Amino acid sequence: MNLLEKFNSFSPGAFETTWRSPSNIAFVKYWGKKGHQLPANPSISLTLKECFTETTVSFRPSDLPSLELYLDNVREPKFETKINSFLAGLSLPVLSKLSITIKTKNTFPHGTGIASSASGLSAFCLCLVDYLYEASGTDRRDFFQTASFVSRLASGSACRSVYPGFVSWGESELSGSSDYFATPLDVHPEMRNLRDTILVVSGEEKKVSSTQGHGKMKDHFFAEARFAQGKVNYHHTLEALKKGDMERTGVILESEALSLHAMMLTSPVPYTLLKPNTLAAIDMIWAFREETKLPLYFTLDAGPNLHLLYPETAANKIKTFISVELSKFATMVIDDERGEGPVKC
Ligand code: DP6
Repeated sequence: MNLLEKFNSFSPGAFETTWRSPSNIAFVKYWGKKGHQLPANPSISLTLKECFTETTVSFRPSDLPSLELYLDNVREPKFETKINSFLAGLSLPVLSKLSITIKTKNTFPHGTGIASSASGLSAFCLCLVDYLYEASGTDRRDFFQTASFVSRLASGSACRSVYPGFVSWGESELSGSSDYFATPLDVHPEMRNLRDTILVVSGEEKKVSSTQGHGKMKDHFFAEARFAQGKVNYHHTLEALKKGDMERTGVILESEALSLHAMMLTSPVPYTLLKPNTLAAIDMIWAFREETKLPLYFTLDAGPNLHLLYPETAANKIKTFISVELSKFATMVIDDERGEGPVKC
């Protein structure tokens, strides 16, 4: 499947556009790939509100194609190389006739270890797809599907950031689901007011990137079992989200986080991204839940930082617990919640 075929022949024009795109946190994890940027199992995420990237891209026709990228007004050759090789992989003739300037900034501070690839690359891809539709005069009916398709090629998790709230990616029992792009998920009204407080345990640069981590699943002893678990957890999370069952959702949420990190610990060349404070905070969350029966659950990205998920209705007591007890394990605490997806500025 190639949703970019429709842009194979048109003449380049000048265009500038700005998009804000949020980060997302996976409830069921994408960890392991097949084919070209396709997920080994379907995943489900929640799009966030406060953690987002804002990117402006200007496209100018040019005989000498070029690309410049500025993050917080500082030129970043490392990201330019990444974007250049991503664009080359798209094999779109128009891209060899453009000078592209990218200016980007994140709302979350640098060095927090919060995944910026989902928000950063979806924001860039929304600008790119906006240009492709505009310059070719294509009908925009499938704009977000195409944006999700292109974002996936840049970074798998980025394809889920183009939709609001809960989002599914990967072929599954859901009609219209696909490995090639994400689709928005309809959930029970009670699941529409979730909060996500992020405990930044460490902002150190990760020793092993997510892309490298996916690669390590290729010859992992537990790979097939993990993909099967991901599929079962996907199915149960879908059911729980539709019923508004926070407890079931939360139990799977934690199991997915722990499985993800167990995959790292049991890799042929083992590694861990967890820190002592991650485990100390997890212990405390379990004790708090046991004692209060309040619906506070955690998940982890491919890093040491904890995302604390809870419904708005229990927010008062849980926020007090976070600030009194859990914040001592963190270098920073970021309050976030369900978001409405990207916006064109
Ligand atoms: C643990 O999307 O960052 O966050 O496709 O190689 O760019 P690439 O990987 P990436 O992996 C995300 C992994 C995860 C789980 C998830 O978001 O589903």
